Amino acid sequence: MMILVSGGAGYIGSHTCLYLLEAGHSVIVADNLSNSSTEMLERVKEITGSDIPFFNVDVTDKDAVEDIFNKNQIDGVIHFAGFKAVGESVLKPLDYYYNNTVSTMVLAQACIKHKAERFVFSSSATVYGENKIPFSEDMKLMPATNPYGQTKVISEQILTDAAKANPDFSVALLRYFNPVGAHESGLIGEAPNGIPGNLMPYITQVAKGRLPKLRVFGNDYNTPDGTGVRDYIHVCDLALGHIAALSSIKKGVNVYNLGTGRGTSVMQLIKTFEEVNNVRIPYEIVGRRPGDIAEFYADARKAEIELKWTAKRSLADMCRDAWRFEKNYGA
Ligand code: NAD
Ligand code: UFG
Repeated sequence: MMILVSGGAGYIGSHTCLYLLEAGHSVIVADNLSNSSTEMLERVKEITGSDIPFFNVDVTDKDAVEDIFNKNQIDGVIHFAGFKAVGESVLKPLDYYYNNTVSTMVLAQACIKHKAERFVFSSSATVYGENKIPFSEDMKLMPATNPYGQTKVISEQILTDAAKANPDFSVALLRYFNPVGAHESGLIGEAPNGIPGNLMPYITQVAKGRLPKLRVFGNDYNTPDGTGVRDYIHVCDLALGHIAALSSIKKGVNVYNLGTGRGTSVMQLIKTFEEVNNVRIPYEIVGRRPGDIAEFYADARKAEIELKWTAKRSLADMCRDAWRFEKNYGA
């Protein structure tokens, strides 16, 4: 298939491009480089030996997207493009609502018009809000506590309604848990601009000495060691989940959790990182981060049964691969 990957220059997108090419698909990337550069795509070419046509395009721009569809026979879209910083979304809600929902509408409209009937969307576990754990796909969604989360709830709704009205349109809503790690080559990985907001890139930068110490946000949660529990998933497993969804997608709306089904606390992650990489992570316990919830992880059975996909890589692999990339990358 010829797949248009929006946001393909970013963290999850670049890994997915790699596995799409390895699976024999052709890939085109549309990215406005607002949170990336073309470097990861160059590296994907280096690893796979395949070329990736690149369009420096904002996918909220209807004419620019139309132009890509006119020039290429596209079979499906994987839509990663979007803003993703929870804190920033509270400060700039209109930027988030505009970018994340308009991009979804523009790409879905182009797909329907040009009969590119497979649409895979990057959603998030954030749509479950504070449901009971483990989160499963049939749960009623809760309004998110921040504009970023709301853009995912709204985009899911937009795509669901579009699929209802267009019986040939197939949509996969993939709800990611906490993607971490990097490709085993050490060539591609997560390279956030500025100070990272997420735990794993913060840890790797502390390990490298770029940041003095980690702040652990709260150790008084109702969890085994009091620190927050999440379902960390290796980005390569996550990328492979997209390949599985793309090939098994059925008409209508298909919703899948992409997680491991296992919870890991902040302290467990620090300890594993230290052990497998033989480095020390200085940390201090500070107050809870506003908006955080204590614990969540996936019920991952639906993807296993219907997509024949499970996350295979361990927490140790995630820590090893994240550190290998960080050591190799940049200053
Ligand atoms: P990323 O920022 O590395 O990648 C997103 C890419 O989209 C970037 O290359 C950026 O330049 C591009 N982009 C943004 N707006 C655009 C626009 N209007 N037009 C064209 N390109 C645009 O982020 P990521 O971690 O790879 O996340 C990819 C997707 O997965 C996002 O939609 C994100 O919300 C979702 N997601 C991420 C996580 C996570 O923890 N990383 C968790 C759940 C869901
Ligand atoms: N944490 C720290 N110190 C830090 C950063 C994080 O202790 O410097 C803790 C958090 O309190 C939380 C855990 O580490 O308990 C994970 O935090 P992250 O910021 O890495 O991830 P979140 O679970 O808060 O959110 C991430 C994405 C969201 C997405 C969600 C589910 O940022 O966009 O995963 O996919 F919705």
